[in-house]
Amino acid sequence: MTYARSVLSVPGSSQRFLDKAGSSAADVVMIDWEDGVGNDDKGTARELTNGFLHAQDPSAGPVWVRVNATYTEHFDHDAAAVNQWANRPSAVVLPMATLESAKTALARLDGVPLVAMIETAVSLEQAPHIASLDRIVGLMFGEYDFLATMAASGASRMSDTGWAKSRIINAAAAAGRWSIAGPNADFSDAAALQEQSRREASLGFAGKLCIHPNQIGTVNEEFGPAPEYVSWAKDLLEEIERGNHGGAFRFRGQMVDAPVIDRARAAVRLAGATR
Ligand code: COA
Ligand code: MG
Repeated sequence: MTYARSVLSVPGSSQRFLDKAGSSAADVVMIDWEDGVGNDDKGTARELTNGFLHAQDPSAGPVWVRVNATYTEHFDHDAAAVNQWANRPSAVVLPMATLESAKTALARLDGVPLVAMIETAVSLEQAPHIASLDRIVGLMFGEYDFLATMAASGASRMSDTGWAKSRIINAAAAAGRWSIAGPNADFSDAAALQEQSRREASLGFAGKLCIHPNQIGTVNEEFGPAPEYVSWAKDLLEEIERGNHGGAFRFRGQMVDAPVIDRARAAVRLAGATR
């Protein structure tokens, strides 16, 4: 699956937003049928999404669909729609995932890869097991829902979610999956988005959910391998091709050994997978 730095959430009930998303610079377009769409508009969202998937040029990048949670009255209709379509999304995003609901969704959605949203305390506790299920390709943090459920259990002043983020990142990585950070709702504060993105990328998230097109540029810059690092890594790999370097050696004033080389290789590979 394509490496995703920016995932743009687009309410599926709005043709205007869908038109805009089709030509956006986001690595992935996630068409939302859940929180971004009112109860009366769920049917419209499914129809417009089907139209979008038909019209979309496959080279424009992956399209994901965020369905409604398995416990809602909408999920059956969501799953039936996705299963019927000739042009399927590259992945389905499952909100409010638990181990049980992820198993249900996997059973109900024929063969589609799933991204599980970790957005409750239970979900976080089960994250390593959810991430290990077949066809789960990644975890995404539902930070706002997580804060809401934590507030309901007394943590109404909670704002430091770093510890939860770390656990999601490692749960995903331990299963060989990537993880995506939650969105920043304040789409008019570019500096805050940059600071948050930088911290989340340094913690280990592969990418971040965006809710507005003006967030994509910053997120694409802050996630993924840093260009300066990739260029250094390419030089290092060339140097290794040329010379006979075993064990530790010196390269541009730094010590290089096997793990340093492995990390450089991984970054160059990822940089090549970013569209
Ligand atoms: N996807 C695609 N296009 C979007 C967009 C999105 N998420 N958000 C805004 N746009 C487009 C608008 O259509 C507008 O383009 P246009 O003038 O050519 O039509 C342009 O970007 C500027 O939009 P702006 O006027 O600044 O925003 P708005 O007031 O129309 O909408 C929100 C603001 C928050 C309602 C909207 O960005 C949104 O719905 N975001 C996604 C919400 C979501 O998915 N939530 C659930 C997931 S966490
Ligand atoms: Mg939600």
